[in-house]
Amino acid sequence: MKVLIVGSGGREHAIAWKVAQSPKVDKIYCAPGNAGIEEYAECVNIKAMDFQGLADFAQEKGVDLTVIGMDDPLVGGVVDVFESKGLKVFGPRKNAAILEGSKAFSKDLMKKYGIPTAAYETFTDPGEALAYLETAKYPVVLKADGLALGKGVLICATHEEAREGVRTIMEDRKFGDAGSKMVVEEFMTGREVSVLSFVDGKTIRTMTSAQDHKRAGDGDTGLNTGGMGTFSPSPFYTKEVDAFCRAHIYQPTVDAMAAEGRPFKGVIFFGLMLTPEGPRVLEYNARFGDPEAQVVLPRMKTDIVEVFEACIDGTLDQIELEFEDNAAVCVVLASKGYPVSYEKGYPISGLDVFKDKSGYYAFHAGTAKGEAGIVTNGGRVLGITATGEDLKSARKNAYEAVQWVSFENKYYRNDIGKAIDEA
Ligand code: AMP
Ligand code: GLY
Repeated sequence: MKVLIVGSGGREHAIAWKVAQSPKVDKIYCAPGNAGIEEYAECVNIKAMDFQGLADFAQEKGVDLTVIGMDDPLVGGVVDVFESKGLKVFGPRKNAAILEGSKAFSKDLMKKYGIPTAAYETFTDPGEALAYLETAKYPVVLKADGLALGKGVLICATHEEAREGVRTIMEDRKFGDAGSKMVVEEFMTGREVSVLSFVDGKTIRTMTSAQDHKRAGDGDTGLNTGGMGTFSPSPFYTKEVDAFCRAHIYQPTVDAMAAEGRPFKGVIFFGLMLTPEGPRVLEYNARFGDPEAQVVLPRMKTDIVEVFEACIDGTLDQIELEFEDNAAVCVVLASKGYPVSYEKGYPISGLDVFKDKSGYYAFHAGTAKGEAGIVTNGGRVLGITATGEDLKSARKNAYEAVQWVSFENKYYRNDIGKAIDEA
């Protein structure tokens, strides 16, 4: 069959690599793709937000399955456009992708169905938000309602910072229209865990757990980024935590969406915080995580194309997901200055070393083909993943592989997976 993947990051590279393992697949396209994805796929220059262009392409080429990797097109309704043309597509419809697209929607859903999350209030009027913040408990968390590239969350230690935050989100509209509504949330403490899952509208199958490192600097300092590295599994995600989440979070979320007339088909990414009072939902995403996919998919044994099809057909109850009994660590190689400003266009060397090494992966994020070979083309450039029999050996292997690659202004965190020493 022919598969089209939509997106251009490290996540889509990991998806393309995994799809390429399927014996069912003989041709992969990726729109728009990147220099690494080209190894498995024919990259076509159609933008992820050009829904009509994507659907026309899929129709013209006889694509059997399209997989949407990114949040923006999902929230914008790309799946509805494909379905209206009778095309098979993996991902939630617009009315279900709102689970990620609106924090106010997801908080209201959790409240209505008793799914554990931080207490909150929603505001559309900055004056009312400011009045509420006069008597709030600090620290407090402010969240722009809509998509903001993971950056629309402000943790405010003081009343003064919160006043500034309201200005930033609602008045100056630093995150654009995402800030026309704002959620003010209770601050929680604990370890964060990401659990990705496949959903077919009624059945949910969770994947192995992972943990992201969102801040730019070692020791969780500096600005929030899209993610500087991940490890999987999380040693803090115990059997007890899993049992609690199954009973109170996973299936209840799927059932709640179905009850609202918004059946969810695709990936639900549960961002969890393991608080002293038990696991709580921090956020939902409606897609694979980036760079969570880069540690979860290399550990997955099941044919992903069969899982995608089962989600679309509503037969996920017939599938058992299997993962290797090992571990994986991904270290993101970024351009110095990310996430603020950085230079691009530097040649990357050392990528060939990965070709004949099993258990080592260089997933491309911001790369392009230059005249002299592959060059840097973004803030996050590569996700270097290695597996190992346990987390410690996976980490050792990943940091070894980080040294194989060089480019000007290469920057990475030195402490990805360090928390596992405390487990
Ligand atoms: P979100 O995009 O909602 O996952 O938020 C981004 C990051 O902000 C999370 O990964 C947490 O580190 C932090 N965060 C979000 N909500 C809270 C909260 N209620 N309490 C503490 N930290 C939070
Ligand atoms: N790594 C976090 C995300 O994909 O949203």
